[in-house]
Amino acid sequence: MRPALIAAACAAIGSVTGQQQLLGQESQTTKPPNIVFILTDDQDVHLQSLDYMPLVRKNLLEKGTYYDKHYCTTAVCCPARVTLFTGKAAHNTNITDVNPPYGGYPKFVKQGFNSKYLPVWLQEAGYNVYYTGKLFNAHNVDNYDSPYPAGFTSSDFLLDPFTYNYLNSSFQRNQEPPVSHEGEYVTDVMAQKAYGLLDEAVEAKKPFFLMVAPSSPHADIQNNSGSLTFDAPVSAPRHRDLFKHVKVPRTVNFNPNVPSGANWIRALDQQNTTNVDWNDHFYRQRLRSLQAVDEMVDGLFERLKSHDLLDNTYIFYSSDNGFHIGQHRMQPGKSTGCEEDINIPLIVRGPNVPINETTQLVSSHTDIAATIFSIANIPLRDDFDGLPIPLTAPAIESAISKRREHVQVEYWGFAGGEGIYDRRLHINNTFKGIRIVGEGYNLYYQIWCTNEHELYDMSKDPGQMKNLLLDDSRVDVVAGHPIERVVERLDALLMVQKSCTGEVCREPWRSLHPDGKVMTLEDAMASRYDKFYEKQVKVEWDFCHNGYVPEAEGPMFEDRGVEFRDDGFMWPDWV
Ligand SMILES: *[C@@H]1O[C@H](CO)[C@@H](O)[C@H](O)[C@H]1NC(C)=O
Ligand SMILES: *[C@@H]1O[C@H](CO)[C@@H](O)[C@H](O)[C@H]1NC(C)=O
Ligand SMILES: *[C@@H]1O[C@H](CO)[C@@H](O)[C@H](O)[C@H]1NC(C)=O
Ligand SMILES: *[C@@H]1O[C@H](CO)[C@@H](O)[C@H](O)[C@H]1NC(C)=O
Ligand SMILES: *[C@@H]1O[C@H](CO)[C@@H](O)[C@H](O)[C@H]1NC(C)=O
Ligand SMILES: *[C@@H]1O[C@H](CO)[C@@H](O)[C@H](O)[C@H]1NC(C)=O
Repeated sequence: MRPALIAAACAAIGSVTGQQQLLGQESQTTKPPNIVFILTDDQDVHLQSLDYMPLVRKNLLEKGTYYDKHYCTTAVCCPARVTLFTGKAAHNTNITDVNPPYGGYPKFVKQGFNSKYLPVWLQEAGYNVYYTGKLFNAHNVDNYDSPYPAGFTSSDFLLDPFTYNYLNSSFQRNQEPPVSHEGEYVTDVMAQKAYGLLDEAVEAKKPFFLMVAPSSPHADIQNNSGSLTFDAPVSAPRHRDLFKHVKVPRTVNFNPNVPSGANWIRALDQQNTTNVDWNDHFYRQRLRSLQAVDEMVDGLFERLKSHDLLDNTYIFYSSDNGFHIGQHRMQPGKSTGCEEDINIPLIVRGPNVPINETTQLVSSHTDIAATIFSIANIPLRDDFDGLPIPLTAPAIESAISKRREHVQVEYWGFAGGEGIYDRRLHINNTFKGIRIVGEGYNLYYQIWCTNEHELYDMSKDPGQMKNLLLDDSRVDVVAGHPIERVVERLDALLMVQKSCTGEVCREPWRSLHPDGKVMTLEDAMASRYDKFYEKQVKVEWDFCHNGYVPEAEGPMFEDRGVEFRDDGFMWPDWV
């Protein structure tokens, strides 16, 4: 290990000058910027929902940068949100589900995060913090005050069990009791609250962070004394008749004639016409419900503009996780490692952020807290698993060759559809993966708790229809190298990432190659490392479990001692 070197690198990133270079800020006297963060619920990239949001296009895409390779690392609401707010992967928060015992607001509190997350840190740094919308699952009309979420100057939370009840929401302001909004459209109620909070923030004349987290386009859920009924999302009445002829994009992986994927996904039957037609309806309802979000975004921009705040405010738009409808024959839902579920929207607009640009730089929700720290000029925490996302043209340009080019994906539990058909819960939906995008490769590698392996070449097979590790679709060469050599590297990287914390997560290749000579998959592919990677202990599960219990997780990198690290010794090429 070279702790001194790593510490020096981190210090440079954490220093004022480092952060200001990242943001293109010229001097320390700049007034701290404001931050507005819009976080939707279950919004996809790959079903093209952003194409139906003209006001997001006008205000954000055309005025900011779109991060095409942004990922959530755990594709379900509560774990994804906790990762976003703490800068830690789910295996370090142990918030791995939406409800107790493995997740939800009570577990968040129990794990001690109510005093160690973004709102609290921003307040400590002198920011006023405002929030309206959904915070976490299982934050409800009974437990909202035990304790109150910490870190908010003013808040108005959307509470369970009414979070997905589009026409009977329950909001809870500051320390007041919940108020029911029967018959009002939830996003319109929230928009008024968001505008009010923005006015409060302006009035207070302090730098502020405002987060608005609509429940759209999540499925509608009604909780009738404990029995949950799922239905398509509901739109505001004024948007009811839009998009009558729109259907889920018929990509190659849409309800395919042949099974795909592995485990429970491979066992799914093809959907019949009744089911597909209903799923198209579900899709249209998502787009219709997003129209009120689109309008709210425009409303926020109008107000930012009228308060003359646009020059000193960063505006983020993202979703907690992605969504699939019919891909690989799956019912509407998330919770898998498929690209539709993990690749999510991220748009940033703000001072020095390139205008009307798209970048292929890889980033994840693990990086969001660190990014906001950079903007607010707060020294980065050493226990962050993520790194600030570069926000200026030069920073993006130089990061392309230096920054981590992969994200680690992880999941524990079951998967369930959110439509009206096939409401089975699929157990054994526990897995770990690596999504990696670099010069000459674009791959996804996943290992299920059943020890089934998948590898997809996303440049040739973006729909993930050909698992290259299955006998009938196996290839010898992937990304220009023998497939087993590539898998050995990805497996070793996953072994490090699956239990990493802090700096090991930020620079996982250094744990394998402490001399710093390997920073990318391409570096690791050098043939002199073939023997080294061949002998690495492989990722393997002991059994499937619904939560993160170490007994289930097989060998861990930390357990294995120094012989599994490359200490700079070079195998001669002829070995
Ligand atoms: C709406 O929610 C309130 C509780 O917040 C409940 O008392 C009321 O019965 C609900 N109305 C309908 C129509 O479900
Ligand atoms: C549904 O409502 C019951 C009480 O009627 C509650 O115990 C349960 O937690 C609710 N479920 C969800 C998912 O909110
Ligand atoms: C179509 O599939 C759904 C879900 O499996 C099933 O409930 C329904 O009965 C089927 N309808 C027809 C007409 O086969
Ligand atoms: C944004 O860029 C695209 C091409 O990438 C161009 O067609 C479009 O006109 C640009 N829009 C604006 C508002 O600059
Ligand atoms: C779930 O995984 C276990 C291995 O942990 C296996 O024994 C069992 O058959 C699997 N069940 C299903 C329904 O796939
Ligand atoms: C995660 O939480 C669960 C539920 O409380 C617990 O059983 C498990 O041991 C925890 N895992 C770790 C690694 O602490």
